[in-house]
Amino acid sequence: MSKNTRTLLRGGTVVTATDVVLADIAVLGEKVLGVLAPGSELSESFARGAEIVVDASGKFIVPGGVDVHTHFQSDGQAAPVLDTFATGTIAAAFGGTTTIIDFAQASPGARMPEGFERYLNMTEGQCAVDYGLHLNCFEVDDQSPAEMDALLAEGVTSFKMFMAYPDRLYSTDAQILRILQQSARNGALVMMHAENGIAMDLLRDQAIARGDTGPAWHASTRPARLEAEAVHRAAVLADVAGAPIYIVHLSAAEALYEVVTARGRGSNIFAETCPQYLFLDVDALTDEQDAGFAGARFLCSPPLRPASHQQDLWQGLRQGNLHVVATDHCPFCWSQRQLGREDFRAIPNGLPGVEHRMEIMYEGAVAQGRLSLNRWVDVCSTTPAKMFGLHPRKGTIAPGSDADLVVFNPQVGRVISSATHHMNVDYSVYEGMTVAGTVEQVFLRGQRIIEAGHYVGRQGDGRYLRRGLSSYLR
Ligand code: URP
Ligand code: ZN
Ligand code: ZN
Repeated sequence: MSKNTRTLLRGGTVVTATDVVLADIAVLGEKVLGVLAPGSELSESFARGAEIVVDASGKFIVPGGVDVHTHFQSDGQAAPVLDTFATGTIAAAFGGTTTIIDFAQASPGARMPEGFERYLNMTEGQCAVDYGLHLNCFEVDDQSPAEMDALLAEGVTSFKMFMAYPDRLYSTDAQILRILQQSARNGALVMMHAENGIAMDLLRDQAIARGDTGPAWHASTRPARLEAEAVHRAAVLADVAGAPIYIVHLSAAEALYEVVTARGRGSNIFAETCPQYLFLDVDALTDEQDAGFAGARFLCSPPLRPASHQQDLWQGLRQGNLHVVATDHCPFCWSQRQLGREDFRAIPNGLPGVEHRMEIMYEGAVAQGRLSLNRWVDVCSTTPAKMFGLHPRKGTIAPGSDADLVVFNPQVGRVISSATHHMNVDYSVYEGMTVAGTVEQVFLRGQRIIEAGHYVGRQGDGRYLRRGLSSYLR
């Protein structure tokens, strides 16, 4: 595809975070040239010179999904994540996600900039969709604030910190405050894994000492109150530093309550939830098959919660107290889960999901009447792009934005299954779930990469995105 290739997507219903309008989309090369009235002279004359014309009548055209929380190829746990940047981004493309942001991490003993370089090398020529990088920030010391400044210049404008995992990634309150203070100066966004890891480690060690070794104990030793406590503490530390903060993978009603309360008192706090917390619940972990180990397939941190939390999370999305839906895609196959058969502490944490976010959110949000079409696009694409310094290049359909476009058919559903998915994992946590609409075609910067159920792009089409500062913070 040349930089002058003309593509016209005709007669679709264009859905952005603010509008639903019947329109033609004119694409020149990699960019949206215009959103045109169907049948207008402008549209007709563009059609005459177009190399590619797509009939989108009866379909929605939405901006490509932006998934700001993936862990492709991660080697930070007891077992490696099997989805590489190559396989994982193809799966993302199938699901209508054209931008991902992954978490770079320094090798043991190395500094943050080494982590960035390592991930740039790891991703070079591999990705099927565009990608950015956050940096995992731990072992904070005197050099860390300056390293953060240097990484900002490379387009890494967000840093994840951990109140959990005392044995690996944990930061003390003082270390967190220090990084928040620097973010108040340089405009970076701190992303927080908010669970009280010190208290949870005591509970889980006590469970093992009692002989409670099955996967369900992973959930009961990570109670929602300890997530809520950490969210509260993170909000207070951010207030003290005068910095914004973004809570990742929020799972529980009590934790959301802390976000709402902090926002009420003026805190600059934002939160993400994930499809697994909206659609799955803790009962999956107590599956008695396979001597009570079957539930290990559903082990993630924070854990799945009782189903009663889901309505609060949907309300949080509806009312604007939850801002982003990201997947936290971190798949481990069934044989990798076996590492913790005798001790749930050894089960690698995380769930697959990058492929199905747009479709299952359409199902839960739009088809089941919980959110508007606009809000579906907003939480899956527009706000994530704004939050992480990619808007208006990503996350919308407007003249000058990247032509990352998804043709979404709301008339044709499908049943989700590991037999048909493209993620490199041997089961689906959504096995058997019916979704009311499907991603039919996907364009990445004007180039069609998904068509008629096939990936038609090339490995390495995806480019590294040097991100700006968030345009969303208050
Ligand atoms: O269980 C999870 N969420 N695994 C991925 C790592 C993280 O903390 O996000
Ligand atoms: Zn986390
Ligand atoms: Zn994660």
